[in-house]
Amino acid sequence: MTDEQNPRTGQTPTGTVRTITASIGQVLVSARGLQKSFGDRQILKNVDFDMKAGDITVIIGKSGSGKSTLLRALAGLTDPDDGRIIFDGEVVFEDEERTEVWEELDSHVGMIFQSYTLWPHMDVLANLTLAPLKKLGLSKEEALERAKRSLAEVGMSDHLRSKPSQLSGGERQRVAIARALMMEPKLLLCDEITSALDPPVAAEVLGVLQRLKETDGIAIALVTHDMAFAARAADRLVFFHEGEIAVNTTPDDAFNRNDNPDLKKFVDAVRF
Ligand SMILES: Nc1ncnc2c1ncn2[C@@H]1O[C@H](COP(=O)(O)OP(=O)(O)OP(=O)(O)O)[C@@H](O)[C@H]1O
Ligand SMILES: [Mg+2]
Repeated sequence: MTDEQNPRTGQTPTGTVRTITASIGQVLVSARGLQKSFGDRQILKNVDFDMKAGDITVIIGKSGSGKSTLLRALAGLTDPDDGRIIFDGEVVFEDEERTEVWEELDSHVGMIFQSYTLWPHMDVLANLTLAPLKKLGLSKEEALERAKRSLAEVGMSDHLRSKPSQLSGGERQRVAIARALMMEPKLLLCDEITSALDPPVAAEVLGVLQRLKETDGIAIALVTHDMAFAARAADRLVFFHEGEIAVNTTPDDAFNRNDNPDLKKFVDAVRF
């Protein structure tokens, strides 16, 4: 792999980044018939799924049910075995392959994980500007300006020169969000990003995401095991069960009016 290659896609930047046209309330990303197996175990069975710009979709489900695999497929970290992914009206994955427009849309997709994936030896500024300098070809001044804007959005303006080790967990997670914002994503995939945080700090991070969906119209998918967090955050709630979307509804309906036995068992197990 050369320096120019995107570590995620293995592709070299072309400088072409397509502008996204979906506005708040319109479908931004669709998955149709997604399938993925590891060995002889089918993990994604036939997943159909839409996400709208400006919505937070919370994905819940048992450990091992395939939630992270779904997010990774949408982020381009795992190629599905079959199915289609449509992003802003363009087919980006079909017939077991990424299509030509994949790369032009790829930088609009950001993913954040539970364990903070910041580079420990770099300060916040360097962490934020590394990818945009390389992938988007921004000048240092432009990257600095964008870093200041992104940090302001997550309330971390005072920490431009901090090292990750000098930050609390919640602060690191907010920097991880700011880093994703540097690429001006329209789809943000968050995999258990608040699991290691205490409730008030998790609420702060949630507040940041809620502002982003409202101000920037970002579509956000959030995988979490925290039901209170799910109920508060979600516009849509997806219950993932054995590789399939078993329930896709509002959080109120999911928690109070749904008679799916697997969801009931799942919710009852965490009620106290
Ligand atoms: N790269 C891989 N190779 C082999 N098996 C995998 C791989 N990635 C995931 N799996 C398996 O696929 C299943 C689903 O994993 P996944 O990480 O999607 O579950 P999850 O719903 O996110 O679970 P958790 O809530 O524990 O994070 C698991 O049984 C896991 O072991
Ligand atoms: Mg997972």
